[in-house]
Order: sequence, then structure tokens, then C-alpha cells
Amino acid sequence: MTYINIALGKGRLVDKTISLLKEMGIDFCEYHSESRKLIFEDPKNYIRIVLVKAVDVPTYVEKGAADIGVVGKDTLLESGANVFEMVNLGFGNCKFVVAGCEQLNLYKKKLIVATKYPNVAKKYFNQQGRSIEVIKLNGSVELAPLVGLSDCIVDIVETGTTLKENGLKILEEICPISARLIVNKASYKTNFQQVNTFLEKLQAIINRLEVNNP
Ligand code: PRP
Repeated sequence: MTYINIALGKGRLVDKTISLLKEMGIDFCEYHSESRKLIFEDPKNYIRIVLVKAVDVPTYVEKGAADIGVVGKDTLLESGANVFEMVNLGFGNCKFVVAGCEQLNLYKKKLIVATKYPNVAKKYFNQQGRSIEVIKLNGSVELAPLVGLSDCIVDIVETGTTLKENGLKILEEICPISARLIVNKASYKTNFQQVNTFLEKLQAIINRLEVNNP
């Protein structure tokens, strides 16, 4: 048996993923949320997790440095990584939106859109024949329309608190988002039995949790 390497993005999804793995009988006894360690192993189940920056999860999986990854659909869409998207994990639910001031005309010429997700933003507007200028930011995107850097933003919304506290409104909804399990294409073929057994166990736990919490 070889180890299955799972890349997890540090941040919102880690604790829920670790709990899900625990339900599968996979335990990283050394793991705690304050730890600075980046690799944890469960030698009994031959599972190893590597904690990486969330936006890097698709890269680790596409390049085969990890067999499996857990990543938000937002990051996956933006990356365009060539991986198998196998399971909707059902947590980390939020949505991609266009947001801005209520009176903004989204059909004005040369709309300027600030976002952490330039590929998603361009694709969404271009598919509708609306051309935009994108300004790529790395965080606190809600600030951009408030200080005149952009007309609006494309971003994820979870509770809506950040938009509300900054006086912005959802103007268009793009798509729903949740955590996804992705698999390296070569690992899925060469290590099919081990990866598939893991996926089946995971799906069974997700089904059980859904039944108990519909
Ligand atoms: C995300 C997103 C919004 C916020 C939405 O940012 O970009 O700013 O969460 O959450 P809410 O609807 O529950 O308020 P994140 O917390 O990842 O921080 P960032 O702005 O530094 O990227």
C-alpha cells in the first residue's frame, strides 16, 4: 500500500474536511488548528494530508503532488485545472455574485469589475456578449467600488454581511459554490483501487450525514 496524499487549502474548509475524514475513521492525532505543521499522517489508513494555500490546491492535484484535493468550486473554476471533480462535499456553501451600488447600470460601456476571480468574471460577462475591464485584487474586494477603483465586483458571498456592512447589493447571481473533492487524473487510473475505495467510503458518509441532516 502507498499513501494517498490529500491537499487541503488552509482556511475555511480545513476543519470540516478533517471532521469528515474522522467520520471515515481517518485520524490525524497531531492535528490542531493552531499548529504550524504542514503535513499530517494517519499511518493506519495510509492517508497523508498536506496543508497548502487554498488557491494552490488545484495545482498540487493537477501536477500529481497530491492525489486528491479539497477545494471550493470558486477556486476550481478560476484555476481551470485539468483534474477530475468527483464529489460535492456539501459544505462551504456560498455563491458567486456581481455586486455593487444599487443604482449601478451593469450594461454601461466599459464596465470595470474588481475581483479575485478574473477568469470567472471575464467568462461570465463575455458569455453574454458584455465586454468588461477586469482589475485583479487579492482581498477586501468590496472596497474597490467604494473608492472608485471599479464600478462593481465579482466575488463570493456567504452570509452577505461583508456586502451589507459596506453598503453594496447583489446585482446578479452567477452560480452556487461548495467544497469539491478533486482527483489527479493519473492517480485515478494507476491507483484506482485505493482511490476508489476512499471515494466510496467518503460518499457513504456524506449520504449518511445528509439523511441525518436533510
Ligand atoms: C470572502 C469574500 C467576501 C467575504 C464574503 O472574503 O471575498 O469578502 O468572504 O463573506 P460574507 O458574505 O459571509 O460576508 P475572505 O473572508 O476570504 O477575505 P478576503 O476579502 O481577504 O479575501
